[in-house]
Amino acid sequence: MEEFKKKLQVPGDELVFFVNGKKITEKNADPEITLLTYLRRTLGLTGTKLGCAEGGCGACTVMVSKYHPHQNHIVYLFNHYAINACLAPLCSLHHCAVTTVEGIGSVASKLHPVQERIAKAHGSQCGFCTPGIVMSMYALLRSKPQPTMHDIQEAFQGNLCRCTGYRPILEGYRTFTKEGGCCGGKGQTNGCCMTNGNVEEQENSMHPTEKLYDQSEFMPLDPTQETIFPPELVTLSKQSQREMRFVGERVLWVQPCSLKDLLELKAKYPNAKLVVGNTEVGIEMKFKNLLYPVIVAPAYIPELNIIQHNQDGIQVGASVTLTVLGEELRSTVEKLPAHRTQIFSAVLEQLQWFAGQQIRNVAAVGGNIMTASPISDLNPVFMAAGCKLTVMSKGQKRVLEMDDKFFPGYRKTALRPEEILLSVEIPYSKKGQYFSAFKQSPRKEDDIAIVTCGMNVQFKEKSNTVQSIRISYGGMAPVTVLAKTTCNRLLNRQWNEELLEEACTSLAEEMSLSPSAPGGMVSYRRTLTISLFYKFFLTVQHKLAVNLQMEGVIVEDIQPEYSSATDRFRLDAPSSVQLYQAVPPGHNSDDVIGHPIMHLSALKQATGEAVYCDDMPCYENELHLALVTSSKPHALIKSIDTASAMSFPGVVSFISAKDIPGSNMTGPVVYDETVFADDKVTCVGHIVGAIVADNQAHAQRAAKAVKISYEELQPVIVTIQDAISNKSFFDPVRSISRGDVSQGFKDADHILHGEIHIGGQEQFYLETNCTLAVPRGEDGEMELFVSTQSASKTQALVAKALGVPASRIVCRVKRMGGGFGGKESRSTILSTVVAVAAQKVKRPVRCMLDRDEDMLVTGGRHPFFGCYKVGYSKNGRVIALEVTLYSNAGNSLDLSLSILERALFHMENSYNIVNIRGTGYMCKTNLPSNSAFRGFGGPQGMMVAESWMSDVALSCGLPAEEVRRINMYKEGDLTPFNQRLEQFTIDRCWEECMQLSEFGNRKEAVEEHNRKHRWTKRGLSIIPTKFGISFTAVFLNQAGALAHVYSDGSVLLTHGGTEMGQGLHTKMVQVASKTLKIPCSKIHITETSTNMVPNTSPTAASASSDLNGMAVYNACQTLLQRLQPYIDKKPKGCWEDWVKAAYFDRVNLSANGFYKTPDLGYDFDTNSGRPFNYFSYGVAVSEVEIDCLTGSHKNLHTSIVMDVGKSLNPALDIGQVEGGFMQGLGLFTLEELRYSPNGYLYTRGPGMYKIPAFGDIPIELKVSLLRDAPNERAIFSSKAVGEPPLFLAASVFYAIKDAIMAARTESGLTGPFRLDSPATPERIRNACEDKFTQLCPPANPETFTPWAVQV
Ligand SMILES: Cc1cc2nc3c(=O)[nH]c(=O)nc-3n(C[C@H](O)[C@H](O)[C@H](O)COP(=O)(O)OP(=O)(O)OC[C@H]3O[C@@H](n4cnc5c(N)ncnc54)[C@H](O)[C@@H]3O)c2cc1C
Ligand code: FES
Ligand code: FES
Repeated sequence: MEEFKKKLQVPGDELVFFVNGKKITEKNADPEITLLTYLRRTLGLTGTKLGCAEGGCGACTVMVSKYHPHQNHIVYLFNHYAINACLAPLCSLHHCAVTTVEGIGSVASKLHPVQERIAKAHGSQCGFCTPGIVMSMYALLRSKPQPTMHDIQEAFQGNLCRCTGYRPILEGYRTFTKEGGCCGGKGQTNGCCMTNGNVEEQENSMHPTEKLYDQSEFMPLDPTQETIFPPELVTLSKQSQREMRFVGERVLWVQPCSLKDLLELKAKYPNAKLVVGNTEVGIEMKFKNLLYPVIVAPAYIPELNIIQHNQDGIQVGASVTLTVLGEELRSTVEKLPAHRTQIFSAVLEQLQWFAGQQIRNVAAVGGNIMTASPISDLNPVFMAAGCKLTVMSKGQKRVLEMDDKFFPGYRKTALRPEEILLSVEIPYSKKGQYFSAFKQSPRKEDDIAIVTCGMNVQFKEKSNTVQSIRISYGGMAPVTVLAKTTCNRLLNRQWNEELLEEACTSLAEEMSLSPSAPGGMVSYRRTLTISLFYKFFLTVQHKLAVNLQMEGVIVEDIQPEYSSATDRFRLDAPSSVQLYQAVPPGHNSDDVIGHPIMHLSALKQATGEAVYCDDMPCYENELHLALVTSSKPHALIKSIDTASAMSFPGVVSFISAKDIPGSNMTGPVVYDETVFADDKVTCVGHIVGAIVADNQAHAQRAAKAVKISYEELQPVIVTIQDAISNKSFFDPVRSISRGDVSQGFKDADHILHGEIHIGGQEQFYLETNCTLAVPRGEDGEMELFVSTQSASKTQALVAKALGVPASRIVCRVKRMGGGFGGKESRSTILSTVVAVAAQKVKRPVRCMLDRDEDMLVTGGRHPFFGCYKVGYSKNGRVIALEVTLYSNAGNSLDLSLSILERALFHMENSYNIVNIRGTGYMCKTNLPSNSAFRGFGGPQGMMVAESWMSDVALSCGLPAEEVRRINMYKEGDLTPFNQRLEQFTIDRCWEECMQLSEFGNRKEAVEEHNRKHRWTKRGLSIIPTKFGISFTAVFLNQAGALAHVYSDGSVLLTHGGTEMGQGLHTKMVQVASKTLKIPCSKIHITETSTNMVPNTSPTAASASSDLNGMAVYNACQTLLQRLQPYIDKKPKGCWEDWVKAAYFDRVNLSANGFYKTPDLGYDFDTNSGRPFNYFSYGVAVSEVEIDCLTGSHKNLHTSIVMDVGKSLNPALDIGQVEGGFMQGLGLFTLEELRYSPNGYLYTRGPGMYKIPAFGDIPIELKVSLLRDAPNERAIFSSKAVGEPPLFLAASVFYAIKDAIMAARTESGLTGPFRLDSPATPERIRNACEDKFTQLCPPANPETFTPWAVQV
């Protein structure tokens, strides 16, 4: 550092800012350090979380407040806004005040209403997203104490939650709005919730609704109580500004205070990077490993912050943030006549779908232009509008037009190195001018564009003759482009059908793409350029008809059924109903079972006090680890060169296979994997080694410098199809069959064949994998703090790698920020590496994977390919079925066999197919091993079933719901694996769901809509699910518990399960409370630990409440029996009296409990036995609307009826139903892992991999827990709920398919068609074949190598 300072000959300044009201003076502010790292590592404020480091998840949201001595009407004197701390350079915060989740309230002192309401409304499950959501809401309330629902939805565009399904968060925060607000008892015009209760819900429901929480408990929001902006900062900000310089290890940060100084600096350092929001540069430095030695921060230069209305338009300084630009344009649009503000409205349209609020609050308009990204959302608008750009260098100023010369190449602009962008002028539009902007992205909210465009046409006076036209596209070339040829062809033409035809044909030629083009989706992108133009055409045509009619010129209007093509996608405010059976009146009030108790950690999660693995304070001598992974899918390692890496600052050691004291072979079931690849790598992302250094940044930099040379091997098998061609399978091939399949086919009226591919899915737990390993220094002892679902498996595999008995290893799990199966076995690949490193360096070693590493190395849900042959009768009754399932297992077996088996066990979903044969193959490929994910193969098996069911209905021309109904199981039927269905409740779920969703009326309305609309179609579907509960590996169906009663009466409970947000600990405390007959407040669970309960099964298979609940019950019963004499002796005494008496009488007040599920076991050879203890059932109805031109869809309605037995806790169970459903919705409609043909994963973060966001929840969501359905096979008559609801999201997929069918009918297409999962906009658009898709046919697959392949 000193060396660098000398080289630059500058002393560093002191950075002064405030955090939670406390002044921080940092003498060594390193420009490479983000605010997040500083908060977590330097200040120990770990409430703010790291979920992605790329601004895509919002877990790191904090509020920044600034004082602006020179405020204008848009920038207020004090500004409070949410930002992503993971992207904010520490150095950008000079003279700012930062508020983190710890700064607004705590459980220990006083909660803030924002924290209280999310927790009490059950909006926090694992809690890892919660602090970020709390801070987004808090920042909104600081500037708008009574927001609208729309404001809230907008504020959450940059926040993700993987657990809750979002509904409870929005419900909880609706109480802050005018519409649904809780006034805190102060009275409101629309009535007070404290006196009315939740009136709307009661009216809508079929049964009287019990509330899941009581709004009247909520503390009122009192904006006057908020902390004020630090007066010292006001004084400091008013003082004359001077240039600031901060010097780090490798980077100099200069913050000039005048334009002159800025230009001087740019002349001196022409290669210096200008940084305003850092939302682009930050990503380049973190993920592309780019280094910018000099950074210049022009955020405070007045000339770059102007917003000035000129004669021709609005001059916007390059450093103006997108939020400020949006506010200015919105107020101008409100003031000026519409024909003047067409372009401003188009910019606003783009801004609405531009990133999330946290990004828009800091990202500058100049940053977007100068990044020159081919998928920039603003550049096509600016280009189509012909915006003027003022650029400056020392002594020179020029004005350039944004045209096709402005971007000479990929990420290049026409500016010279010494020049800066000063401002952009966005012109007013004129009479007769029409302008639209469109953006199409995989997800509507916070997503980058697939194709984005600006379209601008000017007509000759009082006519529909084109005077000038300019169309600009992003996403169609390495730069933003103009469709010049097409535009020239349209000049002087009338705006009519012939022009449309000419434009479409011309665009199809001009906007062509190589079939191998980066980004893929080639046909779709090409079709979009035309489809979006068509939308523009119709929009303009309609406006022309209206406007010219006023001027006496008649132009034909568009047909009414085409008008929906011109509608813009808007977020509607969601509504919901939750129904459950309350405990009967007169029920013992001490019995907490059946009550909607809040997750016991929810309040701590909302305040940031809940401790996750990486929140543990650092040990004094702790080191950090970074992985070194393979860049080749299949290769021999020739050499590993660590010389350069070892010379990096802070590096302590390189760890590889040679350092393993025990065995390098590992794996959860069979040992077919390596801890570190020794001679061969079998996937991109295979762990080869690890660097250990004094901090994470040093470790990661050095890890990137490790050079591995390879000898590439063949074959490289990536896809299921590759594996089938190469016969690359793991053993065994599994099969289940029942009945006489050949005879069945002979008896059938018809036979059809079909296929479906179901893509994989990333678990995307918000907290990535994390391990802290602490060697204890004697006897090979080591303590591990791990974010894992499998404490015992971690212990066993670490012991194996270290060559010590398991008794020397303790694995401790406090809580996880989500697991979903992803931390069942794959967490061990990190834990073993960290443990080996800690053993070698004899110091504590920590590693929390970055999101991109986690996604790269840990695999996900198995992609499946299903082929089927179905024999059926004319009325749709399926008589025979032959199905073959192929899963993409990746490079090791992991849990693939159990997953495949579960897929086969669910191959008929809920249908009674008497002649059936299912065969399953596990494909061995050069991908990271795929693993468990909620549903564990079940959803894939059932998805194939619903595909043939849909095909049968389409071929018979019968309503799908009828065909499903007639094939449905009945009580007492046998499954293909010969298990009898008892207490079968799907019939009841089905009937109730039909009623709840008003299926009949809804269907009529859908048909009516479809008759009236050509370009939007609605679809409806009802889907059942039957999910077998138990681990199919029999030995795992056991659990242990340990309960200590201390002499003060407090109880410490431990059991084998881990807490990952599902509320397992809460349920276990409820079970103990009911059994011991004491309040929950006396019972505490600290953690899961292998030295408290040994040989635990993973927390998985939805069975953890069943298994651990019984073990807890067993332990508590033992304690109760031991206490009984003292209770009998003093029946009127209290718990503490009895405990004390027993203690003094020398009674053992510690008891363990154990449970194993009886009568389990299945034999594939004889197709006999019981694989499952019982089944969980559910039914869902969903309605969607698709945009046939873009492939986007809206989830309009979902009703779910779920059988959860007698719910232990309806709030937690509804949380699982809704959260599981939303994950399924991601699986089937949104989430797409994209791999190169060489097995390189492109989608390695929230930027490219889209999980459902707030805006994806069904606009209307009804969830009902089936009443009067006790389940005698589980604790207190409850049922498992974690996995079963996930598949119900298939109702959305098949509603989409139904809507696509309606669109295809318009083009004369009938009968079954293949729709693979997920139903992305690309697949939906391509399936809605029409005249536009015909213009862009896909290239012959034999003729090119695609950018991405379906694995
Ligand atoms: C999560 C996320 C979501 C995003 N979503 C979108 C989206 O939906 N649409 C979209 O288009 N983009 C999106 N982006 C990209 C990015 O946010 C925008 O491009 C943003 O406008 C960049 O502004 P900035 O101030 O943060 O740029 P910085 O990162 O600060 O700078 C970007 C570049 O501009 C240069 N620069 C900045 N100001 C000047 C100037 N005055 N003169 C010369 N050069 C200058 C810098 O040197 C640098 O090369 C997203 C980014 C993230 C992280
Ligand atoms: S960690 Fe900052 S947005 Fe994800
Ligand atoms: S509670 Fe939101 S990610 Fe877990």
